[in-house]
Amino acid sequence: MGSFPLFPEEASTIAGQTDALYFFLIGVSAFFSLLIAGLVIYFAVKYRRRSDTEPAPEPATGGTTLEIVWSVIPLGISMVIFVWGSSVFFKINRPPDDALEVWVVAKQWMWELQHLEGQREINELHIPLGRAVRLKMTSEDVIHSFYVPAFRVKQDVLPGRYTQLWFHPTKPGRYHLFCAEYCGTKHSGMIGWVYVMAPQDYEVWLSGGAGEGTLATRGDKLFQDLACGNCHKADGSGRGPSLEGILGQTVELETGQKIKVDDDYLRESILSPQAKIVKGYQPVMPTFQGLVTEDQLLQLIEYIKSTGKKK
Ligand code: CUA
Repeated sequence: MGSFPLFPEEASTIAGQTDALYFFLIGVSAFFSLLIAGLVIYFAVKYRRRSDTEPAPEPATGGTTLEIVWSVIPLGISMVIFVWGSSVFFKINRPPDDALEVWVVAKQWMWELQHLEGQREINELHIPLGRAVRLKMTSEDVIHSFYVPAFRVKQDVLPGRYTQLWFHPTKPGRYHLFCAEYCGTKHSGMIGWVYVMAPQDYEVWLSGGAGEGTLATRGDKLFQDLACGNCHKADGSGRGPSLEGILGQTVELETGQKIKVDDDYLRESILSPQAKIVKGYQPVMPTFQGLVTEDQLLQLIEYIKSTGKKK
Protein backbone atom coordinates (compact mmCIF):
# COMPACT_ATOMS: atom_id res chain seq x y z
CA MET A 1 0.00 0.00 0.00
CA GLY A 2 2.98 2.27 0.61
CA SER A 3 3.59 2.87 -3.09
CA PHE A 4 -0.08 3.51 -3.78
CA PRO A 5 -0.14 7.27 -4.33
CA LEU A 6 -3.64 7.81 -2.92
CA PHE A 7 -2.20 7.41 0.55
CA PRO A 8 1.03 9.35 0.91
CA GLU A 9 2.82 8.83 4.20
CA GLU A 10 1.83 10.89 7.22
CA ALA A 11 4.71 13.21 8.03
CA SER A 12 3.20 16.09 10.01
CA THR A 13 1.27 16.50 13.25
CA ILE A 14 -1.92 17.33 11.38
CA ALA A 15 -1.67 14.47 8.87
CA GLY A 16 -3.02 11.77 11.18
CA GLN A 17 -5.92 13.99 12.28
CA THR A 18 -6.84 14.87 8.71
CA ASP A 19 -6.72 11.20 7.71
CA ALA A 20 -8.80 10.10 10.69
CA LEU A 21 -11.52 12.58 9.75
CA TYR A 22 -11.26 11.57 6.10
CA PHE A 23 -11.66 7.88 6.86
CA PHE A 24 -14.54 8.60 9.23
CA LEU A 25 -16.36 10.46 6.41
CA ILE A 26 -15.62 7.63 3.97
CA GLY A 27 -16.79 5.09 6.58
CA VAL A 28 -20.08 6.88 7.28
CA SER A 29 -20.75 7.32 3.54
CA ALA A 30 -19.91 3.69 2.75
CA PHE A 31 -22.00 2.37 5.66
CA PHE A 32 -25.14 4.27 4.67
CA SER A 33 -24.67 3.66 0.92
CA LEU A 34 -24.45 -0.08 1.52
CA LEU A 35 -27.26 -0.06 4.08
CA ILE A 36 -29.66 1.82 1.79
CA ALA A 37 -28.72 -0.07 -1.38
CA GLY A 38 -29.03 -3.36 0.53
CA LEU A 39 -32.44 -2.46 1.95
CA VAL A 40 -33.71 -1.33 -1.47
CA ILE A 41 -32.86 -4.74 -2.91
CA TYR A 42 -34.06 -6.67 0.14
CA PHE A 43 -37.44 -4.91 0.29
CA ALA A 44 -37.90 -5.08 -3.49
CA VAL A 45 -37.61 -8.84 -3.26
CA LYS A 46 -39.50 -9.29 0.00
CA TYR A 47 -42.51 -7.16 -0.93
CA ARG A 48 -42.66 -8.03 -4.62
CA ARG A 49 -46.11 -8.63 -6.11
CA ARG A 50 -46.50 -12.38 -6.29
CA SER A 51 -49.44 -12.64 -8.69
CA ASP A 52 -51.45 -10.36 -10.95
CA THR A 53 -54.52 -10.80 -8.76
CA GLU A 54 -52.79 -9.92 -5.50
CA PRO A 55 -54.36 -6.70 -4.18
CA ALA A 56 -52.14 -3.67 -3.66
CA PRO A 57 -51.34 -3.21 0.06
CA GLU A 58 -52.68 -0.36 2.16
CA PRO A 59 -50.29 2.63 2.04
CA ALA A 60 -48.50 3.13 5.38
CA THR A 61 -49.15 6.42 7.20
CA GLY A 62 -47.41 8.02 10.17
CA GLY A 63 -44.78 6.45 12.38
CA THR A 64 -43.58 9.06 14.87
CA THR A 65 -40.90 6.87 16.46
CA LEU A 66 -39.39 6.09 13.07
CA GLU A 67 -39.39 9.77 12.07
CA ILE A 68 -37.67 10.81 15.29
CA VAL A 69 -35.07 8.07 14.87
CA TRP A 70 -34.20 9.04 11.31
CA SER A 71 -33.98 12.71 12.28
CA VAL A 72 -32.01 12.42 15.50
CA ILE A 73 -29.39 9.91 14.31
CA PRO A 74 -28.35 11.92 11.20
CA LEU A 75 -28.37 15.11 13.29
CA GLY A 76 -26.04 13.45 15.79
CA ILE A 77 -23.73 12.21 13.05
CA SER A 78 -23.60 15.59 11.30
CA MET A 79 -22.86 17.35 14.59
CA VAL A 80 -19.96 14.97 15.18
CA ILE A 81 -18.65 15.78 11.69
CA PHE A 82 -19.14 19.52 12.28
CA VAL A 83 -17.37 19.68 15.66
CA TRP A 84 -14.58 17.33 14.59
CA GLY A 85 -14.14 19.06 11.22
CA SER A 86 -14.00 22.55 12.69
CA SER A 87 -11.51 21.54 15.38
CA VAL A 88 -9.14 20.23 12.67
CA PHE A 89 -9.86 23.33 10.56
CA PHE A 90 -8.92 25.67 13.41
CA LYS A 91 -5.72 23.76 14.08
CA ILE A 92 -4.74 24.03 10.42
CA ASN A 93 -5.44 27.76 10.47
CA ARG A 94 -3.67 28.68 13.72
CA PRO A 95 0.09 28.56 13.45
CA PRO A 96 1.92 28.42 16.80
CA ASP A 97 3.68 31.66 17.77
CA ASP A 98 7.14 30.12 17.91
CA ALA A 99 6.98 28.75 14.36
CA LEU A 100 9.98 29.11 12.09
CA GLU A 101 9.10 31.63 9.40
CA VAL A 102 9.91 31.19 5.73
CA TRP A 103 8.79 33.42 2.87
CA VAL A 104 7.50 31.94 -0.35
CA VAL A 105 7.31 33.80 -3.65
CA ALA A 106 5.60 31.83 -6.41
CA LYS A 107 6.04 32.69 -10.05
CA GLN A 108 5.46 31.02 -13.39
CA TRP A 109 6.80 28.36 -12.93
CA MET A 110 8.89 28.01 -9.85
CA TRP A 111 8.87 28.26 -6.08
CA GLU A 112 11.28 30.66 -4.46
CA LEU A 113 11.78 30.16 -0.74
CA GLN A 114 13.52 32.71 1.45
CA HIS A 115 14.75 32.01 4.94
CA LEU A 116 15.00 34.92 7.37
CA GLU A 117 18.71 34.17 7.75
CA GLY A 118 19.11 34.99 4.07
CA GLN A 119 19.22 31.61 2.35
CA ARG A 120 17.29 31.51 -0.87
CA GLU A 121 16.14 28.26 -2.42
CA ILE A 122 14.43 27.39 -5.69
CA ASN A 123 11.95 24.49 -5.68
CA GLU A 124 13.50 23.18 -2.49
CA LEU A 125 12.78 23.85 1.13
CA HIS A 126 15.10 22.72 3.91
CA ILE A 127 13.62 22.72 7.41
CA PRO A 128 14.55 21.23 10.78
CA LEU A 129 12.68 18.37 12.38
CA GLY A 130 10.75 19.06 15.56
CA ARG A 131 9.69 22.64 14.85
CA ALA A 132 6.56 24.14 13.42
CA VAL A 133 7.15 26.04 10.19
CA ARG A 134 5.04 28.93 8.99
CA LEU A 135 5.14 29.96 5.36
CA LYS A 136 4.14 33.45 4.32
CA MET A 137 3.38 33.33 0.66
CA THR A 138 2.66 35.56 -2.28
CA SER A 139 2.73 35.30 -6.06
CA GLU A 140 4.37 37.48 -8.70
CA ASP A 141 1.82 36.65 -11.36
CA VAL A 142 -1.16 34.28 -11.19
CA ILE A 143 -2.71 32.09 -8.51
CA HIS A 144 -0.63 29.09 -7.51
CA SER A 145 -1.19 26.64 -4.68
CA PHE A 146 1.42 25.26 -2.29
CA TYR A 147 0.72 21.61 -1.64
CA VAL A 148 2.68 19.03 0.36
CA PRO A 149 0.62 15.82 0.41
CA ALA A 150 2.71 14.14 3.13
CA PHE A 151 1.90 17.05 5.48
CA ARG A 152 -1.76 17.18 4.36
CA VAL A 153 -1.56 20.93 3.82
CA LYS A 154 -2.49 23.01 0.79
CA GLN A 155 -2.95 26.75 0.45
CA ASP A 156 -3.55 29.06 -2.49
CA VAL A 157 -0.79 31.59 -3.19
CA LEU A 158 -2.26 34.84 -4.49
CA PRO A 159 -0.79 37.83 -6.28
CA GLY A 160 -1.12 41.09 -4.33
CA ARG A 161 -1.53 39.64 -0.85
CA TYR A 162 -0.01 37.29 1.70
CA THR A 163 -1.47 33.95 2.60
CA GLN A 164 -0.01 31.59 5.14
CA LEU A 165 0.39 27.90 5.74
CA TRP A 166 1.93 26.01 8.60
CA PHE A 167 2.91 22.47 9.45
CA HIS A 168 4.93 20.61 12.04
CA PRO A 169 6.96 17.82 10.42
CA THR A 170 7.27 14.61 12.41
CA LYS A 171 9.70 12.55 10.32
CA PRO A 172 12.97 13.37 8.61
CA GLY A 173 12.90 12.77 4.88
CA ARG A 174 12.21 14.23 1.49
CA TYR A 175 8.63 15.09 0.54
CA HIS A 176 6.96 16.13 -2.69
CA LEU A 177 5.95 19.75 -3.16
CA PHE A 178 3.37 20.44 -5.85
CA CYS A 179 1.62 23.42 -7.35
CA ALA A 180 -2.05 22.50 -7.02
CA GLU A 181 -3.64 25.33 -9.00
CA TYR A 182 -3.50 25.34 -12.79
CA CYS A 183 -1.22 28.28 -13.57
CA GLY A 184 -0.25 27.98 -17.23
CA THR A 185 1.77 25.87 -19.65
CA LYS A 186 4.32 24.52 -17.21
CA HIS A 187 2.04 24.13 -14.20
CA SER A 188 2.84 20.41 -14.09
CA GLY A 189 6.53 21.22 -13.82
CA MET A 190 6.11 23.56 -10.87
CA ILE A 191 7.18 20.95 -8.38
CA GLY A 192 9.88 20.54 -5.79
CA TRP A 193 10.99 18.90 -2.58
CA VAL A 194 10.73 19.65 1.09
CA TYR A 195 13.69 18.30 3.06
CA VAL A 196 13.07 17.68 6.74
CA MET A 197 16.47 17.46 8.42
CA ALA A 198 17.77 16.62 11.86
CA PRO A 199 18.22 19.95 13.71
CA GLN A 200 22.02 19.71 13.78
CA ASP A 201 22.11 18.97 10.02
CA TYR A 202 19.83 21.92 9.47
CA GLU A 203 22.20 24.20 11.40
CA VAL A 204 25.05 23.01 9.19
CA TRP A 205 22.96 23.60 6.09
CA LEU A 206 21.94 27.04 7.33
CA SER A 207 25.52 28.09 7.96
CA GLY A 208 26.39 27.08 4.41
CA GLY A 209 26.37 30.62 3.14
CA ALA A 210 23.88 33.40 2.76
CA GLY A 211 26.20 35.73 0.94
CA GLU A 212 24.04 38.81 1.03
CA GLY A 213 23.10 38.81 4.72
CA THR A 214 19.77 38.25 6.42
CA LEU A 215 16.52 39.46 4.93
CA ALA A 216 16.40 42.20 7.56
CA THR A 217 19.89 43.54 6.76
CA ARG A 218 19.11 43.49 3.05
CA GLY A 219 15.90 45.35 3.84
CA ASP A 220 17.89 47.85 5.89
CA LYS A 221 20.14 48.54 2.92
CA LEU A 222 17.16 48.85 0.61
CA PHE A 223 15.48 51.20 3.10
CA GLN A 224 18.51 53.46 2.74
CA ASP A 225 18.85 53.03 -1.04
CA LEU A 226 15.22 54.06 -1.53
CA ALA A 227 15.72 56.94 0.92
CA CYS A 228 12.71 55.83 2.99
CA GLY A 229 14.44 57.23 6.07
CA ASN A 230 14.31 60.80 4.72
CA CYS A 231 10.64 60.94 5.65
CA HIS A 232 10.25 57.99 8.01
CA LYS A 233 12.65 59.29 10.64
CA ALA A 234 13.08 57.04 13.65
CA ASP A 235 12.35 59.87 16.11
CA GLY A 236 9.03 60.66 14.45
CA SER A 237 10.04 64.16 13.31
CA GLY A 238 9.83 63.30 9.59
CA ARG A 239 7.06 63.87 7.08
CA GLY A 240 5.99 60.24 7.46
CA PRO A 241 5.37 58.27 10.67
CA SER A 242 8.29 56.55 12.35
CA LEU A 243 8.42 52.88 11.46
CA GLU A 244 10.49 51.81 14.47
CA GLY A 245 8.89 48.72 15.94
CA ILE A 246 5.61 49.55 14.27
CA LEU A 247 4.76 45.97 13.31
CA GLY A 248 2.10 44.59 15.61
CA GLN A 249 1.16 48.03 16.95
CA THR A 250 -2.20 49.69 16.50
CA VAL A 251 -2.30 52.95 14.57
CA GLU A 252 -5.12 55.41 14.11
CA LEU A 253 -5.92 56.46 10.57
CA GLU A 254 -7.12 59.81 9.25
CA THR A 255 -10.60 58.31 9.07
CA GLY A 256 -10.54 57.57 12.80
CA GLN A 257 -10.36 53.87 12.09
CA LYS A 258 -7.83 51.93 14.17
CA ILE A 259 -5.88 49.10 12.59
CA LYS A 260 -3.17 46.71 13.66
CA VAL A 261 -0.01 46.97 11.58
CA ASP A 262 0.72 43.64 9.90
CA ASP A 263 2.55 42.39 6.81
CA ASP A 264 -0.39 43.16 4.56
CA TYR A 265 -0.71 46.72 5.84
CA LEU A 266 3.01 47.40 5.31
CA ARG A 267 2.80 45.92 1.85
CA GLU A 268 -0.21 48.04 0.95
CA SER A 269 1.38 51.17 2.35
CA ILE A 270 4.48 50.70 0.20
CA LEU A 271 2.56 49.96 -2.99
CA SER A 272 -0.54 52.14 -2.45
CA PRO A 273 0.50 54.74 0.13
CA GLN A 274 -2.71 56.72 -0.27
CA ALA A 275 -4.91 53.81 0.78
CA LYS A 276 -4.54 54.23 4.54
CA ILE A 277 -3.07 57.49 5.82
CA VAL A 278 -2.01 57.61 9.46
CA LYS A 279 -3.73 60.38 11.40
CA GLY A 280 -1.73 63.59 11.51
CA TYR A 281 0.23 62.98 8.29
CA GLN A 282 -0.19 64.24 4.73
CA PRO A 283 -0.68 61.85 1.79
CA VAL A 284 2.66 62.81 0.22
CA MET A 285 4.32 59.43 -0.21
CA PRO A 286 4.81 58.28 -3.83
CA THR A 287 3.87 54.73 -4.78
CA PHE A 288 6.56 52.10 -5.10
CA GLN A 289 4.39 49.91 -7.30
CA GLY A 290 6.65 48.54 -10.05
CA LEU A 291 9.77 49.87 -8.32
CA VAL A 292 10.18 47.14 -5.74
CA THR A 293 9.92 43.42 -6.41
CA GLU A 294 8.10 40.92 -4.22
CA ASP A 295 11.50 39.84 -2.85
CA GLN A 296 12.36 43.42 -1.93
CA LEU A 297 8.97 43.96 -0.33
CA LEU A 298 9.49 41.11 2.07
CA GLN A 299 13.02 42.33 2.83
CA LEU A 300 11.59 45.73 3.74
CA ILE A 301 8.94 44.09 5.91
CA GLU A 302 11.57 41.98 7.70
CA TYR A 303 13.68 45.09 8.25
CA ILE A 304 10.77 47.02 9.72
CA LYS A 305 9.98 44.01 11.89
CA SER A 306 13.60 43.85 13.09
CA THR A 307 13.52 47.46 14.30
CA GLY A 308 10.98 46.35 16.91
CA LYS A 309 13.12 43.48 18.17
CA LYS A 310 16.18 45.62 18.91
CA LYS A 311 14.59 47.22 21.93
CU1 CUA B 1 1.83 27.28 -10.18
CU2 CUA B 1 0.31 25.63 -11.00
